[in-house]
Amino acid sequence: MHFAELLLRWYDQHARVLPWRGIHNAYHTWVSETMLQQTRVETVLAYFDRFIRRFPTVEALAAAPEDEVLKMWEGLGYYRRARNLHKGAQQVVAEHGGVIPSDVKELLKISGIGEYTAGAIASIAYDQAVPAVDGNVIRVVSRVKGIRENVGIPSVKRRIAQEAAALVPQSRPGDFNQAMMDLGATICVPGTPSCERCPVSALCDAYREGDAEDIPELPRKNPPRVIDYDLCLIFNGDRVLMRQRTETMLQGLWVYPMVEDHHTVKQLPALVKRKIGLPVTDIQTAGEAKHIFTHQVWQMKLYIMHTTAEAPAGWRFVTMEEMQQLTIPTAVKKAKEVVLNYE
Ligand code: ADE
Repeated sequence: MHFAELLLRWYDQHARVLPWRGIHNAYHTWVSETMLQQTRVETVLAYFDRFIRRFPTVEALAAAPEDEVLKMWEGLGYYRRARNLHKGAQQVVAEHGGVIPSDVKELLKISGIGEYTAGAIASIAYDQAVPAVDGNVIRVVSRVKGIRENVGIPSVKRRIAQEAAALVPQSRPGDFNQAMMDLGATICVPGTPSCERCPVSALCDAYREGDAEDIPELPRKNPPRVIDYDLCLIFNGDRVLMRQRTETMLQGLWVYPMVEDHHTVKQLPALVKRKIGLPVTDIQTAGEAKHIFTHQVWQMKLYIMHTTAEAPAGWRFVTMEEMQQLTIPTAVKKAKEVVLNYE
């Protein structure tokens, strides 16, 4: 039997039941596949239904303010995905009358849609026999085809994409692609795979050679940069100082003042005056927090302080009720809890 037949037969018995499956709705596929990039299925489950309820159609998403889209994404991370999805929805409304294209080339022109998402939408929502190559599929294909070179090399990547494309059947390509993802997520896992349960082990080069554990050879990643921050929770009465980030990282999200490096309680007033432009008094320590991003680690010491001055340009004093409406990154969730528990 062929690869696709064996895999689909397995999928028919073992497919994970997920809310974005079993429907032909390109918008649902787009949203779910965007959420699933860099994020586990279990995490996405809590977000997908709520997002679709709030923005049931491409038009509804396109018409929403960006702040509301970010709020629905709060905690999922990689917020650029949400901003690009939002922009992409506006593009689909403006340029395609609200109908998501079915053609991979057209899909690739839309904000937030790369090769992977284009393949996923075209195959899952529109039954086109194209691959959707994510990390799971790279692992499965490199093992099955015995591709032992480093998969970060562009020519190796291209070969994996070609091999993946050659495996996709004309019938049920969307199910096939999702079966590849499920196989990669549950059986053909990183490290030690469960080859004894694998429906395609008979067709697998790595299984035959006994070196599946060593495949794929992954590109070496730079270690994340560790940054120390003193995070300043500055109260004016019962309001706390925040700003909406304009930097590429966490753009559009709301944060508290942060100054790089750690300092003593004695050093902080002069520093806060210089960096934020605000006189502060009554500094208290309020614990520590750490957040690991892809390229950075934030090591934060938290301080509560007080002022009677107005907010400097670019900053805002917000009430607790207002703060709950803002999108705050998980990195400073501990700080938000300290604020909410204060007094
Ligand atoms: N990971 C990315 N897309 C997926 C899908 N459609 N099903 C399961 N896991 C996935």
